[in-house]
Amino acid sequence: MKRDDPLPNLHAPVPGPASRAWLQRLRAVESPNVTAIGDDFPVVWQRARGALVWDVDGNRYLDAGSAFGVAFIGHGHPAVREAAHAQVDTLLHGMGDVHPPTARIALLELLDVLTPGDLGHGVLCTGGSEAVEVALKTAMLATGKPGIVAFSDGYHGLTLGALGGTARPDFRGPFARWVPGPTTFCAYATDAATRDRVLAEVEAALTDPQAPAGVVLIEPLQGRGGTRLPAPGLLAGLRALCDAHGALLCFDEIFTGCGRTGAFFACEHPDLGAPDGVLPDLLCIGKALGGGFPVSACLGRPQVMAAWGPSAGEALHTSTFLGHPVAAAAAVAALTAIRDEGLVARARDDGAALLATLRDALGDHPAVREIRGRGLMLGVDLGDGGLAWRVVLGCLRRGVLLLPCGTGGHVVQLTPPAVMSAAQRTYVVDVLVDAVHEQAQTAA
Ligand SMILES: Cc1ncc(COP(=O)(O)O)c(C=O)c1O
Repeated sequence: MKRDDPLPNLHAPVPGPASRAWLQRLRAVESPNVTAIGDDFPVVWQRARGALVWDVDGNRYLDAGSAFGVAFIGHGHPAVREAAHAQVDTLLHGMGDVHPPTARIALLELLDVLTPGDLGHGVLCTGGSEAVEVALKTAMLATGKPGIVAFSDGYHGLTLGALGGTARPDFRGPFARWVPGPTTFCAYATDAATRDRVLAEVEAALTDPQAPAGVVLIEPLQGRGGTRLPAPGLLAGLRALCDAHGALLCFDEIFTGCGRTGAFFACEHPDLGAPDGVLPDLLCIGKALGGGFPVSACLGRPQVMAAWGPSAGEALHTSTFLGHPVAAAAAVAALTAIRDEGLVARARDDGAALLATLRDALGDHPAVREIRGRGLMLGVDLGDGGLAWRVVLGCLRRGVLLLPCGTGGHVVQLTPPAVMSAAQRTYVVDVLVDAVHEQAQTAA
């Protein structure tokens, strides 16, 4: 049996007594809105390797979600651990935008090589939302225009600026009065007819005489919004409109980037972009970038990033931990592993096989609306958030970690690590199929 072949092994109830005890302690000290604690969810994690996670009761799970997509190269990849340890032993932290550590420079240089086109000038950040903030601030400076065009069900983070592009009403609602706008939301076009209507709406927003939008912010393949592929021609159409009306096109590839969809960046798929690709002016990446360490980036074309002007001593956007050397060294190791271990091709091929297996097993089930996605970013659309949640809980009880996505949580999302073995993927599918059958029957 290969090292990464083990399957779930549950010694204790899920959640077990140790998880419950830790959750009680957490409840006493954490702000109540952070962790939803119920009778059957969550479990408290203790360690992880590859596609496997152990909880504090010793239960072993398969992580079919890669911890929000982060563990694309697997949890605790040896090259990432080695690079991080070496960096910890030499220079554990740096000084933000002053006195740069070498790791920060090495990461930016590698990103310059790996990103398509001339997206070679970057700002390193610690989380995805911050990278989106930098993109939006860049657009404001470069275009002088206030508005953002974003898309229904899109998710770009929850900091105040990024929230201006995040559509989900449950996140925006409580802050809608204060979130800076104006923001124009358009439907996310997954079919040709909607695409043409949406492109007309986008054009109206970009040419609005009162508050013209200066940036179009889109995930080339929607992740948390429900694992949705754009209509062919949508991204190319947006590119043409931005060029025509002096706006910037920003691709949020925080979830889809670094190999997840079977291309290094989702915008590089010829059918999603265009035969010769659609390049954005700004590209946000995060999640898998750091191999588990918190690092993200907003990358831009040099002429766009020039809008910030040279630093005269105080950077206009920085933070204490900008370009943290341990995170940067880990990211260099993670990106190198993705490139040198063929993980992008593995995501493409294993993802196609997984999609076909899921469609064979569940495509005709009456509770399943659609099974879709690209590479290792797949979703089983059940059209019903209650059912999807019960399926997620059913999978957890059998040792498979998954989460729902989509507004209303009606899609069970699969974003496994690229290092998950065929036997482990088969186990995940078997458990998911059983859970859909069981839970759909319960509902009927
Ligand atoms: C597409 C996309 N953009 C931005 C974010 C926000 O990233 P973070 O949670 O690291 O702030 C996410 C997080 O899920 C995301 O999926």
